[in-house]
Amino acid sequence: MRRLAALRQRLLDLELDGLVVTSPENIRYLSGFTGSLGYLVIAGDAAEILGDSRYWLQMEAEAPAFRLMPSGPSHGLWALVAERIKALGLRRVGFESQHLTFDQHQRLSSALPPEPTLVATASLVEELRIVKEPEEVELLRAVASIAGRAFDRVRAAIRPGLRERDVAFLLEQTFRELGADGPAFETIVAAGERGALPHGRASDRVIQRGDMVVVDFGATAAGYHSDTTRTIVVGEPTPEQARVIEAVRQAQLASMALMKPGETADAVDRRAREALAGEEHAYGHGLGHGIGLQVHERPYLSPTDHTALRTGMVITNEPGIYVPDWGGVRLEEMVLITDTGPEVLTSASWEIGVG
Ligand code: GLY
Ligand code: MN
Ligand code: MN
Repeated sequence: MRRLAALRQRLLDLELDGLVVTSPENIRYLSGFTGSLGYLVIAGDAAEILGDSRYWLQMEAEAPAFRLMPSGPSHGLWALVAERIKALGLRRVGFESQHLTFDQHQRLSSALPPEPTLVATASLVEELRIVKEPEEVELLRAVASIAGRAFDRVRAAIRPGLRERDVAFLLEQTFRELGADGPAFETIVAAGERGALPHGRASDRVIQRGDMVVVDFGATAAGYHSDTTRTIVVGEPTPEQARVIEAVRQAQLASMALMKPGETADAVDRRAREALAGEEHAYGHGLGHGIGLQVHERPYLSPTDHTALRTGMVITNEPGIYVPDWGGVRLEEMVLITDTGPEVLTSASWEIGVG
């Protein structure tokens, strides 16, 4: 109920009578409901969950703090949302402008009389999600640990002759064996010159001796996600491979040292870019992102995000160097911001050479 109370305070501040919540992650965060379709209507003294018959039992079980408003077969969900807004006497009702589609907005407004007013809001629930509660940190720690143990097992099996997609499959299979619900995102395995693609999807490319391989992997369980990247070399690293991996590692360590309360997201990002200033092919993407019910969520370690870091945020740190026709290096950790500084939640082996 802390989450609902905090949201209601935000609604008061914005002079909103209520909020229609349509983002699945926000619905899960506020109510506990994990199904694929349902909406919340939240007001000062009402918390309702609206759904069709596929989900009535599940909603009652997963969202006991919410009053179930069942929509019948002849009754569209949007007509029911409109009916609840009227029945609760809401005048200014927020909707999630980053999630409600244009079509859904039209359906809802056409089912409502001229009053009430629908008001676009952005990130009200996402702002609450930005600082993780202790139980959420434990869930993130658990999925990061599963992914790390899976990587260490699969790492030992990587050898010339395997395809990138074989490595991805072995990782994803091991996540499940270790208790995860599955991969958090499409596993990235990019060997040799393909490593220059920051998001190279695992392909049929056969791994060869001497290849540097970027492996970016995550597991998901209980709705929470992990995200780790390791770069390994099959055989002995060449001096240039070792030099580039070390440069990325130093940029990561220098910027990670700033991941503590009071520093800003853009300052952390800047520190890593400064550390790689002499590298022609340093990464162009953001340095990192918050992670939780979504793989990418606020805050973003980027030049345009001035969010001050706070204890309880969990943010990735993932600098890279991507050299066309040669290969790439990315290293990625999940970092918990604590009162005493950064705590790395990810645990996969750091050893570079395999096979
Ligand atoms: N695996 C996606 C990312 O690192 O953001
Ligand atoms: Mn990643
Ligand atoms: Mn990431």
